[in-house]
Amino acid sequence: MCGIVGFISSTEHDSNLVFNGLKNLEYRGYDSWGIVADTDQQLVDQKFLGKITSFPDQIPPSFISLGHTRWATHGGITLDNCHPHFDCHHQVALVHNGIVENYQSLQKDLKNHRILGQTDTEIIAHLIEKYRQKHNLLESVRLTFNQLHGLNAIAVMEHQNNQIIVAKNGSPLVIGLGKNANYLASDINAISNLTDQFIFLEDNWLAQITPQNVQIFDSATFKKIKYTIQKISSSLTDTDLNGYPNYLAKEIHQQFQIIKNINQQNLNQPINQILKLAQKSDQIFFTGCGSSYHAAYFNSLIVSPKINRPVYSFPASEFSPYDNFLTDKSLLVVFSQSGETIDAINLVNFAKNRGVTVASVINSPYSTLHRLADICQILPCGPEKCVLSTKTFTAQLALFLRSIGQDLTDSIFDIQQILKTRYLSKINLLAQKIASYQHIFIIARGNSLPIAHETALKIKEVSYIHAESFSGGELKHGPIALIEPGTPCIIIAPNDSHYDDIISSATEIKARGGWIIGISSKNNSVFDNYLSVSDSGLSTALSITVIAQILAGQLCQIKGYDPDKPRNLAKSVTVK
Ligand code: G6P
Repeated sequence: MCGIVGFISSTEHDSNLVFNGLKNLEYRGYDSWGIVADTDQQLVDQKFLGKITSFPDQIPPSFISLGHTRWATHGGITLDNCHPHFDCHHQVALVHNGIVENYQSLQKDLKNHRILGQTDTEIIAHLIEKYRQKHNLLESVRLTFNQLHGLNAIAVMEHQNNQIIVAKNGSPLVIGLGKNANYLASDINAISNLTDQFIFLEDNWLAQITPQNVQIFDSATFKKIKYTIQKISSSLTDTDLNGYPNYLAKEIHQQFQIIKNINQQNLNQPINQILKLAQKSDQIFFTGCGSSYHAAYFNSLIVSPKINRPVYSFPASEFSPYDNFLTDKSLLVVFSQSGETIDAINLVNFAKNRGVTVASVINSPYSTLHRLADICQILPCGPEKCVLSTKTFTAQLALFLRSIGQDLTDSIFDIQQILKTRYLSKINLLAQKIASYQHIFIIARGNSLPIAHETALKIKEVSYIHAESFSGGELKHGPIALIEPGTPCIIIAPNDSHYDDIISSATEIKARGGWIIGISSKNNSVFDNYLSVSDSGLSTALSITVIAQILAGQLCQIKGYDPDKPRNLAKSVTVK
């Protein structure tokens, strides 16, 4: 989603610095972008719709600059709505992440201002302009920021004013400290090549950044805040495609090594602490969003019998009916790739206020969910760049499978076979046939149901085919009405206690003309097409997931779409 990058320096830099930072944020998803820099005469900006391609030729070298990638929420994808936004006199420039929930009421006080677009952001620049008549820039930003409702991060600069002011509540911001230069970004990845010293801003902090200094204040009281500087090495970015055609392919292939590493790891990790805590907690909730919710769901199913306690799983965005059951004896385990998904963060903040112990299982060190959690398990995946979550999802599963005592050796061998050309070609033949259909259904039971949900999500995210997952048990209560002659149905049938039941479901679909594609370790005459996996017990879920990811990627390729940047999607969903 939206990204912020900026710098202020005592020497001139060209806008490459901000440009490269924005490129590092591309993976988060966006639909327009812009940069502003100051010159002796004026603030100069350039805005673009679509992808970051060439370097902005009109932005001169400067001592101070801000950049932004926008993922449209309020107002269409137009240059007027693209950031940076300005006040009426083009003296104040502002970039913003988040949503100003009360922007319509704030706009009522700005009657004489020239507002060009439809965003919630632009009014912030005009409010600052209003306060600027009586106050300095820092105070004007503070007064404005305190009026904003919602979860927001802003960065503000002014013509011929050697400072950047930033403020945040909810949406992340980090300041990087350099030599006679300071940097800021909404994601450490954007500036991790420039410095190894960082200040992570907390909610309702306001910072004044000059080339040599950073001062931080509480935005409500204006009291100075003592902050800590964290030293973090820049090994966070692994941006090479290493010969793969796209990040989806690269990250699918990386899973073999990642799961192998997890299998070899010493299990004396936070994850064990999480399981121990689960045994002592009154209620245990696993949560997440998107693929991470599917991982939460799968892990809740496998952990529950292990600890002989119910483990409930819910999407973070749908947790509110259970709010009242969260107490200081509850454990909330939140799964997330980015560590910045707003629905998960909101739930964690709520839970912490009720005294709940919060554990996070995330792939992004130093993210908000890392910092908020009482215990944090970092996934050993390295950065995931493709919008689709692949290696994070299987790592989330693999770690929990290991923690309940599963040996992953068989599934690692199986994944190695699946990633070989022979198996890939087999999936490709199938994908060629499926690609012409508008609908595909994925049916599973028990522990495989979250894997069916993940399969459907992967296919719809990247191929735009309507893919829907159903429980085999629910099939007859409605979904079977959708089956027409030829309808492709993937049946996930590992060799577990549900095998016979799921084969019955397949038979019922076949009786109505459905096309049965079985993914199983046991072939069956009901399968029209058969994708074999080895029987590795609960860990078979890993091999099945890899097949599903490959199928989705191939459908995308056949249809000619970009697998790394699916339409309308963002990697990091930082707004509600
Ligand atoms: C977005 C992404 C999904 C991801 C979900 C949760 O919707 O497109 O791939 O699963 O966010 O993200 P998280 O970073 O919390 O795992």
